[in-house]
Amino acid sequence: MLNRRQALLCGASFGAVAALPVQLAAQTREHLTYPPLLDATRSQRFRLRAQAGKTRFNGGATTDTLGYNQDYLGPTLRLMTGADTQAEVENQLRAPVSAHWHGLLVPGDVDGGPHQAIAPGQSWRPVLSLDQPPATAWYHSHVHGTTAEQVMFGLAGVLHVTDGQDDRRGLPSAYGIDDLTLVLQDRQFNRRGRMTYNSGMHDAMNGFLGDTMLVNGQVGATAAVPKGIVRCRLVNGSNARIYRLSLSDNRPMHLIATDGGYLDRPIALSGLTLAPGERAEVLIEFLDGIDCSLVSDNIANSAMGGMMGGRSGGQFVVLPFAVDTTLPARISGLPESLDGVLPILDFADAPLRRFSLDMSMGMGMMMTRANRQFSINDVAFDETALNFSVALNSLERWVVQGDLMMHPFHVHGVRFQVLSENGQQPRPENRGWKDTVLVNGQSELAVRFEKQASRSAPYMYHCHILEHEDGGMMGQFSVS
Ligand code: C2O
Ligand code: CU
Ligand code: CU
Repeated sequence: MLNRRQALLCGASFGAVAALPVQLAAQTREHLTYPPLLDATRSQRFRLRAQAGKTRFNGGATTDTLGYNQDYLGPTLRLMTGADTQAEVENQLRAPVSAHWHGLLVPGDVDGGPHQAIAPGQSWRPVLSLDQPPATAWYHSHVHGTTAEQVMFGLAGVLHVTDGQDDRRGLPSAYGIDDLTLVLQDRQFNRRGRMTYNSGMHDAMNGFLGDTMLVNGQVGATAAVPKGIVRCRLVNGSNARIYRLSLSDNRPMHLIATDGGYLDRPIALSGLTLAPGERAEVLIEFLDGIDCSLVSDNIANSAMGGMMGGRSGGQFVVLPFAVDTTLPARISGLPESLDGVLPILDFADAPLRRFSLDMSMGMGMMMTRANRQFSINDVAFDETALNFSVALNSLERWVVQGDLMMHPFHVHGVRFQVLSENGQQPRPENRGWKDTVLVNGQSELAVRFEKQASRSAPYMYHCHILEHEDGGMMGQFSVS
């Protein structure tokens, strides 16, 4: 985990409060590794196999896990935009799974949501025709009622949508060297090192919060970085944890991309919030050769404040960086501008739709574990019922209201502009194109429907706290 010097540095900068104690088993200072890169830009085809695995996370016993093509998580898929890619997803497990392409703008019938569940032993062969700008997206299983558990145990991976132009943009692009894919997840292990996930009442209500930080499925690893500019593609693959990320010595993170792709120019931030489902790409400068750590505030996000749950406060280390001068430093300057186009949608005449993300908090809820605790506009998810339809290529204004706690609101098959948050200008990290936004009170969105989804293969909209989603805080709509 931390070496002595880093531990001291952390102590010095935030008073030695480690609210998320990383389990102290194997104290090796391992190097972070990256998921294997499955580059489909030339072959324009790839195969994923959902399989069972065994993983030893931190020196304890091996634990049963799930993965695509490997024991835990899946490969990083790189897809070319402007091209058609033939995918094949095979299910070797005994339960239905799916592969939802979170952040790909593809029609409803190839979106991989609950309506494209793959039965055990079966394969699914969608063609992914991409015409969206480059972006960091991700994929994960999305079978209604088991999404939280399947993602917890490993059915998730990262997607890079590329146009092959990052060198021209002056951006780091060497996978695992200066272009780092980082999947952030919090997990819980018992004394023997087995991953545990008992979604008791507390987790079912607030969403699961673990006490051990994993990056790319590893505990306590350090990322080696060149003495130059490093790009981090941050993916929040946690079930419920919201990170407020910053660097331990307060150097800036230069935000270059949000969910939907590049901004028009880098924005220097001292910190950035990343909720479940969201992605952000940042550039970090290591030109002076000085190490630092990616750290996060500990945010409890509990519906009942201090009464039931977790307390907020303190910081913990997400990932230490160690400069390695033997690594090639290819990029030594920040780009002044990027070719991403910020959304400026004209929503003046757009129809208004309201969503309230509801949690029922009565005594009834304490007694039952029925799927009635969570809903949107008082209706819990029903796979057989379409909630509404919208017109293809139309624009709507959505006002999303969150109940009792913060909820990351995600919409399939679209990108949107955040118009306001609680009546204020959106936070800087919400200025670009988004598909997931953390609603803390009320958010106003302009949503553009660019792809088609039939009544039998509709798009989902839901809270990305996976326990809330499985509990019914989800709906579905068609686009035609
Ligand atoms: Cu990342 Cu509907 O999900
Ligand atoms: Cu999605
Ligand atoms: Cu929620």
